[in-house]
Amino acid sequence: MGFYFYTACCFLVIFSQASTAIDTLSQLDSLTDGMTLVSGDGSFQLGFFSPGSSKNRYLGIWYNNIPMQTVVWVANRVNPINDSTGLLKIQSNGKILLQVQNTTAVWCTNLTARVENPVLQLLDSGNLVVRDGKDSEPENYLWQSFDYPSDTMLPGMKIGIDLRTGLHRRLAAWKNWDDPSPGDLTYGVELEGTPEMVLRKGSEKFYRSGLWNGDGFSGTPNLRSNPIFDYDFVWNENEVYYIYSLKNKSVMSRFVLNQTQSVRQRYTWNPETQTWKLFSIMPSDYCDRSGLCGPNGDCDNNKLPACQCLKGFRPKWLERWNSSDWSDGCIHSKPLNCKSGDGFIRIGKVKTPDTTNSWVNKTMNLKECRAKCLRNCSCMAYTNLYVTRGGSGCAVWYGDLLDIKQFQSDGQDLYIRVSASEAERKKKAKVKLAIILGTVIAALLGFLLIVCYILRSRRKLKGNTNYGPHKCTNFVLLQIPVILLTRTYEVKDKNLNDREDKDENEDMELAVFEFDTIAQATDSFSFNNKLGQGGFGPVYKGTLGNGQEIAVKRLSKSSGQGLHEFKNEVKLIAKLQHRNLVRLLGCCMQRDERILVYEYMPNRSLDLFIFDQTRHTVLTWSKRFQIICGIARGLLYLHQDSRLRIIHRDLKTSNVLLDSEMNPKISDFGMARTFGGDQAEANTNRVVGT
Ligand SMILES: *[C@@H]1O[C@H](CO)[C@@H](O)[C@H](O)[C@H]1NC(C)=O
Ligand SMILES: *[C@@H]1O[C@H](CO)[C@@H](O)[C@H](O)[C@H]1NC(C)=O
Ligand SMILES: *[C@@H]1O[C@H](CO)[C@@H](O)[C@H](O)[C@H]1NC(C)=O
Ligand SMILES: *[C@@H]1O[C@H](CO)[C@@H](O)[C@H](O)[C@H]1NC(C)=O
Ligand SMILES: *[C@@H]1O[C@H](CO)[C@@H](O)[C@H](O)[C@H]1NC(C)=O
Ligand SMILES: *[C@@H]1O[C@H](CO)[C@@H](O)[C@H](O)[C@H]1NC(C)=O
Ligand SMILES: *[C@@H]1O[C@H](CO)[C@@H](O)[C@H](O)[C@H]1NC(C)=O
Ligand SMILES: *[C@@H]1O[C@H](CO)[C@@H](O)[C@H](O)[C@H]1NC(C)=O
Repeated sequence: MGFYFYTACCFLVIFSQASTAIDTLSQLDSLTDGMTLVSGDGSFQLGFFSPGSSKNRYLGIWYNNIPMQTVVWVANRVNPINDSTGLLKIQSNGKILLQVQNTTAVWCTNLTARVENPVLQLLDSGNLVVRDGKDSEPENYLWQSFDYPSDTMLPGMKIGIDLRTGLHRRLAAWKNWDDPSPGDLTYGVELEGTPEMVLRKGSEKFYRSGLWNGDGFSGTPNLRSNPIFDYDFVWNENEVYYIYSLKNKSVMSRFVLNQTQSVRQRYTWNPETQTWKLFSIMPSDYCDRSGLCGPNGDCDNNKLPACQCLKGFRPKWLERWNSSDWSDGCIHSKPLNCKSGDGFIRIGKVKTPDTTNSWVNKTMNLKECRAKCLRNCSCMAYTNLYVTRGGSGCAVWYGDLLDIKQFQSDGQDLYIRVSASEAERKKKAKVKLAIILGTVIAALLGFLLIVCYILRSRRKLKGNTNYGPHKCTNFVLLQIPVILLTRTYEVKDKNLNDREDKDENEDMELAVFEFDTIAQATDSFSFNNKLGQGGFGPVYKGTLGNGQEIAVKRLSKSSGQGLHEFKNEVKLIAKLQHRNLVRLLGCCMQRDERILVYEYMPNRSLDLFIFDQTRHTVLTWSKRFQIICGIARGLLYLHQDSRLRIIHRDLKTSNVLLDSEMNPKISDFGMARTFGGDQAEANTNRVVGT
């Protein structure tokens, strides 16, 4: 590695090529204000900078190849340098020293190792490391900046605790835009009870990740499918940490604490607009705020008020609860009686409670877990620790249950301790009903039998024995029970079907068509069947083997959509169901083909009527009004009522299709964009649509 300092000093230029930058500083060199180290692949830069409108100088690391200086790490966070005499060097004992005016040290590392040839190197990951230049194992770092993070978490960084050394890697926000010294917003692992990630503002717990359930944190159940990053939470006898990596290495993404907003934000770099795009934010909604609903409360964003008591609980102070003061929380509606035995009720789709008073075992099963919880009178809830592979492990909670959040679709089950009477109430109610019904039926049968006998004896008196009486008893004794039994089974079956229907809808998968089926339906995409040409490819009319008419959109190969994105989009559209939205029937992903299959709309699109001299007479004013209302209803559903909030971004007459009764249906979601269910505002950086 040649010595090259990025300065204007001309005599140095003679010894090197002007375009190369160095990533390593040896004992003989030093880095002064104005010089920088650049990582091998040019991703990151180390040097002196002044944040915001401040005149102070700090030593830091920032992205090298983007125009907007984005600092990811600061060395002397609390000790700014007030002039440009800062000088960085590495001592023979491996200590990094940041000096001012040749003498005063404003920052140094605590390392004192015996190394022959310590060097300081800026890695491609943005990690500044000290290593032995003679060591053949380049991964043996004597010191690394990733162990002392500032406010930014980069891919490959571990946020957590090394249980062997006690090293606690935690993020702390900048005080403000001009001052990188640590604010009171921090993010790190908390070990008490069972480890989880916690965002704190001062001493207040602000946001918890929830338990790690093997697939993700229970507080963010659907994060796994995001297109940007993979993540993991490692918890063994040596360390506990959270880590993430990028799915596509050429996408830049960072995770940063923001003191002024008291949030944790994730940004990704948008190369087109040359700006950072906000990807996600935590806490993202009302119910993410830790402990909002008090002990034993259940927070549900879709309810008003959001705070409810858990099943089997009631507000501790009704008046305060009614006036939206939830801090006192809820208590059991029926007192527990541990000695004579309590029961559990299941609540589904939740973020697991605060783990401060919890205990886990990675191998127990759910039955053992229940028994464990039942044995200890202060155990209030239990569930599987891991949700993967049908559920395993055990987590139990002692005392009040704090910070439970209710989700709509994902989330874990939780079994809550309630009095035996409460747990059995539903069962008992059923049994009671059965007993009452049984008694009533028996009484009725008895009564009818008596009637029959009376009739029989009367007829006997009249000497008429060949008609009636036997039939009557037969009817009462045989027919009625049979009728009753069949009715009961029908009702039962119906209940069963209802449940199955619901489950099916929950994780509805879309029909996947074979390419050959579609080719056949559209007559090999013949020109005669072509309905039109959209921005993303031609649309054909087709008829399936069973006679069903379909519209087939064949996305052009140049639309540049990856398989993953395509699948995502298809799943997204499949979840939308409204009578003013065109329905997606299925898709096809064979042989590089990306094909969407929609229901066929006999009257095609609105533009064919509005802009046609003859056909526009079909549209009477009442018809037009009806169409407008339909479009509005469809939009309202997209914007407000669907599970995923969606902005269509390309609404025009050619994207409004009409069915045989001229009912409008919005189509073409190629440009649509989804938002968090709670997000009310967002910025877009690209001009799209018409
Ligand atoms: C910079 O700080 C040093 C002490 O840390 C002080 O002696 C010096 O006067 C300051 N210089 C300026 C320009 O404020
Ligand atoms: C800083 O120290 C070096 C040698 O250690 C010396 O040559 C130089 O003159 C000093 N500069 C100042 C401003 O004291
Ligand atoms: C060095 O150790 C001191 C005291 O243990 C600590 O305050 C300081 O933050 C450490 N410095 C670094 C760079 O780790
Ligand atoms: C905090 O977030 C807001 C809004 O996203 C942004 O304008 C601001 O620059 C951020 N502050 C810091 C210090 O990143
Ligand atoms: C990764 O992202 C870059 C830039 O966005 C893109 O050009 C490339 O195709 C992506 N690679 C993969 C494997 O998705
Ligand atoms: C609280 O609200 C509930 C339900 O709205 C009502 O039944 C109850 O009387 C209220 N209690 C008090 C003390 O305001
Ligand atoms: C977890 O449960 C298993 C099976 O019940 C038991 O063998 C093991 O000792 C438990 N581990 C801990 C840490 O309690
Ligand atoms: C129940 O669990 C709590 C919390 O772990 C513990 O303090 C208490 O001793 C346990 N009680 C019994 C009877 O085991």
